[in-house]
Amino acid sequence: MEKYILDIIYLIGSVTFILGLKMLSHPDSARKGNLIAAFGMTIAILGAIFLEGGIGNHLWIFGGILIGTVVGWIAAKRVKMTAMPQMVSLFNGMGGACAAVISIVEYTKHDFSHGGAAMVGIIMAGLIIGTVSFTGSMIAFGKLNGNIGDKVFPGQKFINLVILLAAVGLATYLSMQPMADNMLLYVVLGIAVLYGVMFVMPIGGADMPVVISLLNSFTGVAAAFAGFVYNNQVMLTGGILVGSAGTILTILMCKAMNRSLFNVIAGAFGTAGGASGGDKQQGTVKEISAPDAAVLLAYSKKVFIVPGYGLAVAQAQHICHELEKLLEEKGVEVKYAIHPVAGRMPGHMNVLLAEADVPYDKLLEMEDANSEMPNTDVSIIIGANDVVNPAARHDQSSPIYGMPILDVDKSANVIIMKRSMAAGYAGIDNELFYYPNNRMLFGDAKASLQKLVTEVKAL
Ligand code: TAP
Repeated sequence: MEKYILDIIYLIGSVTFILGLKMLSHPDSARKGNLIAAFGMTIAILGAIFLEGGIGNHLWIFGGILIGTVVGWIAAKRVKMTAMPQMVSLFNGMGGACAAVISIVEYTKHDFSHGGAAMVGIIMAGLIIGTVSFTGSMIAFGKLNGNIGDKVFPGQKFINLVILLAAVGLATYLSMQPMADNMLLYVVLGIAVLYGVMFVMPIGGADMPVVISLLNSFTGVAAAFAGFVYNNQVMLTGGILVGSAGTILTILMCKAMNRSLFNVIAGAFGTAGGASGGDKQQGTVKEISAPDAAVLLAYSKKVFIVPGYGLAVAQAQHICHELEKLLEEKGVEVKYAIHPVAGRMPGHMNVLLAEADVPYDKLLEMEDANSEMPNTDVSIIIGANDVVNPAARHDQSSPIYGMPILDVDKSANVIIMKRSMAAGYAGIDNELFYYPNNRMLFGDAKASLQKLVTEVKAL
């Protein structure tokens, strides 16, 4: 009887994961989707604890759940919107670590010396992928937080490949000849730890988005292997869903960055700095005052707002929406141009603007926005930098060369709102600052937008 109830609970859990994932694809339904999937996860966990049979240690389990809930709750409540990517990396890494720990426990608990090659293979796969996801995510956390720089040295690509092959080779050997000795297991673990670090270490500049989504998919795949080990359908389904969603996102990110997946896996591309780095002067920078910018915007027919990381830093999404509404009241057509890697996490700008209730149909994806740029009077860039840098189109020495960008320079006028001439995430100079059709509106995005709103109201 208990078995049937458990099967039904797992089925409900799996269905809620699929529903939740579907609902996450739109900002309007994302919150509800998250709650539905969380409900499914809760009943699946309770079902596993009470109905799987043979699971004791309830005090330890619920003690752990309580501590995890309190820490997770406080962290999620306190985290600043701009630190979300780091937190996502941290949480993702924990998932990978769990899968790796499951592999260690299951390998050391059973005696595989008389067979079980397939099971050892699955355990090894979970161990390697989970560990790489954990250490890689920790390095990604450090990089996004600004604590770790890019480390590149000659022959890195080759060394990374050797390390990966060593881990896979040793794991295959263990699967073919399962031994009672656990020593080799820890050697595989050590190599996987090293690979996770070495794999993410050289990646810098603007290429982190691809790695972050790849690490997400690794965690899902590692969890799916753990589901195999326990023959647990809901864990398997959840892992496969996270793994495939992460893989799809990785492919989309690769497309957005114009990188091949092979380069990402080889783990040595897109180093920061480069020939276009530094602060070399490229011409004259023209400034615009808030009153002049307000006039230019209010008397335009068509305006594109281009949000970037700085909009999130300034928390200026609400005042930005207010400016957009004011301009529309004056008969200006206003749309948002969204670059897929603007900000610091996939969908960052969509989430930010949804928070301010910007209608979803006002958000145009890069390709659609670019086709309208030549007919645009003003593109106003709010805290974006790398995603509008024309060097990506023509400067082969630039670390972002080849990344598709928003062609804001093709609109009649450009206004860039930022605090200084400082570089963005890729650490490179932006030639757009010196273009004849561009003018800089220096200052914090929120303060500058507030001034623009006041000026537009006064017109
Ligand atoms: P960035 O190129 O990072 O530029 C952001 C700009 O915002 C900075 O140049 C900064 O200039 C300005 N800024 C910061 N605080 C501000 C404030 N309070 N008010 C006004 N401006 C402010 O941003 P982007 O164009 O959105 O590009 C994203 C970059 O991050 C890409 O290189 C991308 O590859 C990378 N990345 C993306 C992701 C994902 S998944 N989206 C993940 C990791 C990395 P000032 O200091 O002069 O103000």
